[in-house]
Amino acid sequence: MDPSKLRSRAWFDNPDNPDMTALYIERYMNFGISREELQSGKPIIAIAQTGSDLSPCNRHHLELAKRVREGIREEGGIPLEFPVHPIQETGKRPTAALDRNLAYLGLVELLYGYPIDGVVLTIGCDKTTPACLMAAATVNIPAIALSVGPMLNGWFRGQRTGSGTIVWKAREMMAASEIDYAGFVELVASSAPSTGYCNTMGTATTMNSLAEALGMQLPGSAAIPAPYRDRQEMAWRTGKRIVGMVEEDLKPSDILSRESFVNAIRVNSAIGGSTNAPIHLNALARHVGVELSIDDWQTEGEDIPLLVNLQPAGEYLGEDYYHAGGVPAVVNQLIGQGLIHVDAKTVSGRSIGENCRGVEIVDENVIRPYDRPLKERAGFRVLKGNLFSSAIMKMSVISPEFHERYLTNPDDPYAFEGRAIVFDGPEDYHARIDDPKLEIDTSSVLFMRGAGPIGYPGAAEVVNMRAPDYLIKKGVHSLPCIGDGRQSGTSGSPSILNASPEAAAGGGLALLMTGDRVRIDLKKCTADILISDAELEERRTALEGKGGYPFPEHQTPWQEIQRAIVGQMETGAVLEPAVAYQRIAQTKGIPRDNH
Ligand code: FES
Ligand code: MG
Repeated sequence: MDPSKLRSRAWFDNPDNPDMTALYIERYMNFGISREELQSGKPIIAIAQTGSDLSPCNRHHLELAKRVREGIREEGGIPLEFPVHPIQETGKRPTAALDRNLAYLGLVELLYGYPIDGVVLTIGCDKTTPACLMAAATVNIPAIALSVGPMLNGWFRGQRTGSGTIVWKAREMMAASEIDYAGFVELVASSAPSTGYCNTMGTATTMNSLAEALGMQLPGSAAIPAPYRDRQEMAWRTGKRIVGMVEEDLKPSDILSRESFVNAIRVNSAIGGSTNAPIHLNALARHVGVELSIDDWQTEGEDIPLLVNLQPAGEYLGEDYYHAGGVPAVVNQLIGQGLIHVDAKTVSGRSIGENCRGVEIVDENVIRPYDRPLKERAGFRVLKGNLFSSAIMKMSVISPEFHERYLTNPDDPYAFEGRAIVFDGPEDYHARIDDPKLEIDTSSVLFMRGAGPIGYPGAAEVVNMRAPDYLIKKGVHSLPCIGDGRQSGTSGSPSILNASPEAAAGGGLALLMTGDRVRIDLKKCTADILISDAELEERRTALEGKGGYPFPEHQTPWQEIQRAIVGQMETGAVLEPAVAYQRIAQTKGIPRDNH
């Protein structure tokens, strides 16, 4: 390796500025790296550590980092591990989504402002993956991702219990008085038997799988369960590989091409991936400067069948996914149909075609061959209308019950009309959902608003709403739900989500009133309030007169800062001013000395 090409040289070996060089070196020598070694031309490899006691999903990375270090050392690099702002999906209030852009900002600053030549991104829990990838894309130094891996399968009385998915089921069981509160907690806890991220095809398994499909982690890395021996080995191989990437100067911008995003969209349909994926991938694309729109998710992904039989769309869990072949086996099925841009580069130094071609499915119950899918056309549909400029629906989770009730009108099989029931935030929904005065029945459509990036703030996973308990007792499990928030990837609800613009940003949902007729047409991909344009205008004027749709007061400085500059979900909910900063390691040079 030519040491003069390393950005860390500007800190550790700059004869033109000996004062500063000495100042930079003396502190790093404090933990056992000698001056000779720091100046020997070895690359400095950061391990961006997302695990901590606050982040149990990623906490196993504290262990894996030891093997990553050994791999880095073996190839002649110097590892430096540092903490990333923790993001814990189920612990952080008001929502972990508020922190994705905060962790992104922090990591950009660290990767750019310290002597770092390459970075291992320790990904896992939902937002940690996009936050790390987005930062690596903005800074654009060699970067490789390492999944922490899913938890082991959860079990309860001989049945698989999957993270998150069991919550929705247990909630219905409690509403139907089949279990009590203690039974509810016990059932839910059974789904989390080990270290690792959610074992269902929720946002974590989705985003880790897509990080691999994008080419940002080594083939096979996404699916290995966290406690497995193979996971330790993958950590070691990842540490070894990043040193080679620095030598080759293989950067995120070399890997994250339009083709790799299209590959990821198709893999997302085949795995039954989370509705959070478009938000995070669109954000990543913007930070790396690749054209990707919300419509691409339907155009490129809708026709792909569902191949992976994982909860919530199917029955199995993370360990089964790994044993069946993981991401490479899925990619190989798509390669067989010409659906993968096989030349897309990956961190391995080889193309995705070279990595995955010929990887056979090991268990066809868990990963189906392309010609025997679980469902045809399992991607997302992108809906538009006077309620919003875009919202998405995951077609793979439409249950037979839902299909029967709403999508079988002989005159118009993909359209239904209903009476809107509008909730302003989850507190309002919890307080009123079981109230008989709302007269909710199977012709009702439940709306959730005030749940977007500005309104919540941060965009919360609150759109999937259960039916009132009196309907559940009659066997009605899901009503159509629509909203400007998100839905957990572990939920199997057929909701219409991520509506943009949100009510708090002037979107049409703000104008809706309980009792309005709404029409959803999944064939034409429309969703509209059935009132005249004149009345809609009248309502808009009235709302604007009151200062627009209200949102709760800022509780922290970050809430206020982010609300002022965050975009809407259809374009990734990024910090809009940050998009102008691209490939800053190349475009902005090295930051000036600090003393
Ligand atoms: Fe962290 Fe699901 S809550 S991965
Ligand atoms: Mg979630």
